[in-house]
Amino acid sequence: MITTEINASIGHLIIDLPGRSMNVFTPALADEMGRQFERLVGDDAIKAIVISSAKSSFIAGADLEQMADLAGPDVSPADALQRISCYGNLFRRIETCGKPVVAAASGTALGAGLELMLACHYRIAADNSRAQFGLPEVKLGLLPGAGGTQRLPRIIGVARSIPLLTKGTALSAQDALSLGILDEIVPPDQLRKAAETAVSEGRVKASAPWDEKGFRLPGGDCYAPANANALVAANAATHASIRDNYPAPYAILRCIYEGARLPIGKALLIEQKHFVLLVQGSVAQNMIRTLFFAKQAASKLARRPAGIAKSQVGKVGVLGAGFMGAGIAQVSAAAGIDVVLLDRDLATAQRGYDNIAQALEIEVKKGRLAQAARDALLSRIGVADSYAAFGDCDLVVEAVLEDAALKASVTKATEAATSANAIFATNTSALPINELAASSIRPENFIGLHFFSPVSRMELVEVIVGKNTSAQTLARSLDYIQQIRKTPIVVNDGYGFYTSRCVDAYIREGIRLLADGVSAALIENGGVALGMPVGPLALADEVGIDVLYHIGHLFRAREAGAWADDRHVAQNRIVDLLKECKRLGRKSGHGFYLYPGDAPKRLDTGFVGHAREIDIAEVKERLLYAQVIEAARCWADGVVVDAAEADLGAQLAWAFPSWLGGPFSFIDGIGAQAFVKQCDQFVALYGPRFEVPQLLREFETKGGRFYTDGVPVQSPLRGAAA
Ligand code: NAI
Repeated sequence: MITTEINASIGHLIIDLPGRSMNVFTPALADEMGRQFERLVGDDAIKAIVISSAKSSFIAGADLEQMADLAGPDVSPADALQRISCYGNLFRRIETCGKPVVAAASGTALGAGLELMLACHYRIAADNSRAQFGLPEVKLGLLPGAGGTQRLPRIIGVARSIPLLTKGTALSAQDALSLGILDEIVPPDQLRKAAETAVSEGRVKASAPWDEKGFRLPGGDCYAPANANALVAANAATHASIRDNYPAPYAILRCIYEGARLPIGKALLIEQKHFVLLVQGSVAQNMIRTLFFAKQAASKLARRPAGIAKSQVGKVGVLGAGFMGAGIAQVSAAAGIDVVLLDRDLATAQRGYDNIAQALEIEVKKGRLAQAARDALLSRIGVADSYAAFGDCDLVVEAVLEDAALKASVTKATEAATSANAIFATNTSALPINELAASSIRPENFIGLHFFSPVSRMELVEVIVGKNTSAQTLARSLDYIQQIRKTPIVVNDGYGFYTSRCVDAYIREGIRLLADGVSAALIENGGVALGMPVGPLALADEVGIDVLYHIGHLFRAREAGAWADDRHVAQNRIVDLLKECKRLGRKSGHGFYLYPGDAPKRLDTGFVGHAREIDIAEVKERLLYAQVIEAARCWADGVVVDAAEADLGAQLAWAFPSWLGGPFSFIDGIGAQAFVKQCDQFVALYGPRFEVPQLLREFETKGGRFYTDGVPVQSPLRGAAA
């Protein structure tokens, strides 16, 4: 785990966590490192110590499994404090050991990895364009609890630390150098030599500046005008963007403010106290469970059927060169896959290609893509107007208009041209896969791959398994998703699958609030205050009123019962009316909002409330419960199989508030019993659309939980995808 070497009176401590591609701090590693460090410190022949990594990166952070354990029911705050103090104590010991210590980073140093560097007296990094330096804890609801909030302001000043800590921004080595976080960048093969030279030339002191008498923070204390302004502005900006849903950025600001006035030893204790409050809170635990563990499992293809050889797509056909087709072609070509883009005629296919070229041009102009990479990507995409071009494709993704008859005809034409082994994937957003597969002569090769727009930026793909889809097809499709660097969730078939049903429920509850006479502005504020990126009406306009109309009628034809009547009648009336008036949302310049040219959109004043004004808390609750109940229905219908995957899908597909973890984390958080009781009250207050599915009621009576000890419980209705 740790090796030590001595060269020219300099002790080298080299970290290499076995079995992992990156070093991650664990209590065991900290313990071992502490012991080896003391050996070097205690050796009088050693003048200075250099800490480095045997891997191409330095240290990627601290072990999150330990962080998840800290919220266990039998862990007291004092226990938690004691358990995490291994990192802080080690770093403080390094800082005060009395010998000069250099951190020499071969690559990325994030979280506790960077905190370790900050505790060293001199920081060098290899010139590695892929290396990142940052304190991203806030992105999982935490703060850097091993000195990050205290040492960073003492190195680069309060004002400059604030965005790095409250946003968790990762920096390149060059930017970290410019800010003063790093002292030096050197070619990778000179890292060790440079560290030794820094020592021999006397550039490394044996103590930290903040441990010396008369130390002043660079840029002054928190009352220096620039710092005070930065703190106030950060507080206001945090409140505007996340309201009070996420405690971590506020805790970080408090750590900076409280800690900057104190000697470092006391300041570090304040930081640890805030860390424990966060790590034992539900927000951080929800975020860690979903955004780390569920995401990691999904990207490692946890749902891939076993025993099937790993595959690679060499050539993909994309059918329909419109908005989605062009995006799918682009991300495939970006992953090195050859693409053929086919539309009803060559000119339309060429238009799709031109749109990709244009999108890439913008990336090049912004410096996010090299010209050569753009050229290489485009050279992999060909256009065609004949199905014969699909002859050697391993996979064809269909992205023609959302029309079942059209999809049936292109399925037949594609299958006539492709090999018996080729997969046919439809990108439909709502049509049941089993119904579409009815026109297929190879239903075992038929699958749903639901991408999200814009494809280049949205990382999720919802994989829909039909009743005849083979395990082979599922495994190969998952391999393709991994190849194009997206994250899959696997669901069973049904109208709207999982994600389209839930996002639709959010939008429609917003429209229902409008039908109930609540003002549009309050509805939109309620959505944002809940933590959704946009209100339900703005989202309706983005999706398009014509699409909502189509989906509304599709769902209406398949949903039965009092809850379905209640859900559709009032909402559909408004959607139908808007469609009749050709107010289709953003695309027509007018929907719930007006889109006046280049000016920002504004709510149509026709939507002021008329019947009653309600508390925003009711708006938030209705918008939240509408989504969660729909997710629970998907679970009861057997569409959703795995709660963790469904929670991840909720966040990645329709930006369900990450502070709540996901619909199933939310139910567990308040308890199934309380959830059902609350829904029963909503039925009485607002209508039967808040009815919970019978299966959830039974689950609740048995004391069910979706996660036990952090492990998601599988749906009792496991189908083909299970
Ligand atoms: P689009 O209208 O931008 O593109 C559809 C393309 O299909 C057009 O280029 C059209 O010329 C082509 N097409 C029509 N008939 C054809 C035929 N007979 N042969 C070959 N090509 C033909 O539509 P968009 O938005 O790209 O949607 C495509 C599919 O993706 C739909 O099923 C939609 O539900 C689904 N989807 C759309 C999302 C979105 O946000 N727009 C998100 C997820 C899925």
